[in-house]
Amino acid sequence: MTHIGSHGGRPRGILWQLTGWGTEAQALWRIADLKRRAWHVKGVGKFGEVMAGEKGKVSYDALAERLGKIIHSGSQKKAITDFLCRELRKIPHYTWVGIYEVQGTDLVLASWSGPTATLHTRIPVGEGICGAAVAAKETIVVPDVNADSRYLQCFINTRSEIVVPVLKSGTPVAEIDIDSDQLDAFAPRDREFLAWAAEELAGIL
Ligand code: SME
Repeated sequence: MTHIGSHGGRPRGILWQLTGWGTEAQALWRIADLKRRAWHVKGVGKFGEVMAGEKGKVSYDALAERLGKIIHSGSQKKAITDFLCRELRKIPHYTWVGIYEVQGTDLVLASWSGPTATLHTRIPVGEGICGAAVAAKETIVVPDVNADSRYLQCFINTRSEIVVPVLKSGTPVAEIDIDSDQLDAFAPRDREFLAWAAEELAGIL
């Protein structure tokens, strides 16, 4: 057998398949492809860490890596959105995390993670911060929910909120809604990180 392009005695990449070493080569291709799709191309590795007082540091990068893996795992959508909510809530200033799906003219709560359930499981597009973000197809950050007349109260301790629409070919299909018990909790990095997560999610919803 001729080992064309062999490297250190071990043929690489597609050449492994040509030389009949298909199984290992295919496994390597799958891993490489998963990495590319999940986080390499999307630029994960730039979000860094956030200090969270006595709860210690949370690595946005490590979180992004876990999210990328599960989003592209081929699991059922509901399992993925449940996981996403649970993982995002590990960021200490993310008090409540929900994912709403667009169903006709309503937003319907698909998954959530937080101390308590919300009564707002169905929100008409255009109502609340959630409905406004989908109507505008834009992320809305509300630094002080008590100063925003659009706000629909879910939890007494919520002080600020971010809503990031999930757009598929420009059409909103879902959104990520996060409440914080801190005033003005959401920094540009949160916005950027969640925009990345929404873009990833758009690929599987
Ligand atoms: N506050 C949201 C409603 C959803 S709850 O936060 C879970 C809003 O104003 O649309």
